[in-house]
Amino acid sequence: MEKRQFGPTRRPVAVIGQGTWYIETANRASAIAALRRGIDLGATHIDTAEMYGSGAAEELAGEAIAGRRDEIFLVSKVLPGNASRRGTIAACERSLAHLRTDHLDCYLLHWPGSHPFQETFAAFEELKKAGKILSWGVSNFDAPELDEALAVAGEGRIACNQVLYHLLERAIEHAVLPWCEKHGVAVVAYSPFGHARFPAPRTPGGAVLGKIAEAHGATPRQVALRFLVRRPSLLTIPKASTPAHTEENAGAGELKLSDAELAMIDQALPRGPRPRNLPML
Ligand SMILES: NC(=O)c1ccc[n+]([C@@H]2O[C@H](COP(=O)([O-])OP(=O)(O)OC[C@H]3O[C@@H](n4cnc5c(N)ncnc54)[C@H](OP(=O)(O)O)[C@@H]3O)[C@@H](O)[C@H]2O)c1
Repeated sequence: MEKRQFGPTRRPVAVIGQGTWYIETANRASAIAALRRGIDLGATHIDTAEMYGSGAAEELAGEAIAGRRDEIFLVSKVLPGNASRRGTIAACERSLAHLRTDHLDCYLLHWPGSHPFQETFAAFEELKKAGKILSWGVSNFDAPELDEALAVAGEGRIACNQVLYHLLERAIEHAVLPWCEKHGVAVVAYSPFGHARFPAPRTPGGAVLGKIAEAHGATPRQVALRFLVRRPSLLTIPKASTPAHTEENAGAGELKLSDAELAMIDQALPRGPRPRNLPML
């Protein structure tokens, strides 16, 4: 599994990780086996959140990583409504208990809410000093929110921005991705299969993925994942609740696509126009 430096932390992190949103709704044994199989294959970046199943996803992830904590880059998130100075600390303590660990590798603000960033980030720094988190980042931040966050935090503090990014939704390429690359912030692509919106084989985009996959003895999903991490700033966290799905996804970790193949995908599944509400950088 290829690893990449995770923003300013400089820690090598698996380019293909594992998500856990709704994982608690799957067959429990299968979901745990899926996460463990992924870890075996190097998909050791595990993403969860206090929101997912109100702690149930964290508990399941905790069970899956038991005995293997040292191999994992473990990420969880605080809900914006809990992200006051004290609320963030309390939320982190709850997440640590659910995950049965004493620290997170990265702790994220799930999306910008009404608590001032000063408060949330001060709590993150306090958690960091206490060794309960090793780094912190944000999620669902647009470029103006990143500007605001940077003004509060300063350079080199925000480890990542976890954002929606899949082949049918490439809006981050307009402003968020360039912003993060300029400031050395890792970009973690969530919902890389569009949650449940993957280009069907009979669509032009699906056909291109199929053709490239065939040439590599790979699958269309593996090709899609590899396209999404084609820049060194990018990582992704597909969620799977069966070992077969995890194996397929982790298989993208070493796939190499040529520039011509990347261009074919770019053409068949274009990034689309700049969203109207995005200011020019
Ligand atoms: N920060 C945020 O606001 C935010 C928002 C959304 C998601 N996320 C994170 O990103 C992770 C991934 O996003 P997501 O869960 O929304 O969606 P996703 O990873 O795009 O897609 C998950 C769906 O794809 C299926 N799948 C996975 N691997 C497959 C394979 N090889 N073949 C066929 N189907 C496959 C899964 O089925 P099975 O479950 O049956 O395997 C599931 O239905 C989340 O779990 C979460 O950790 C973060």
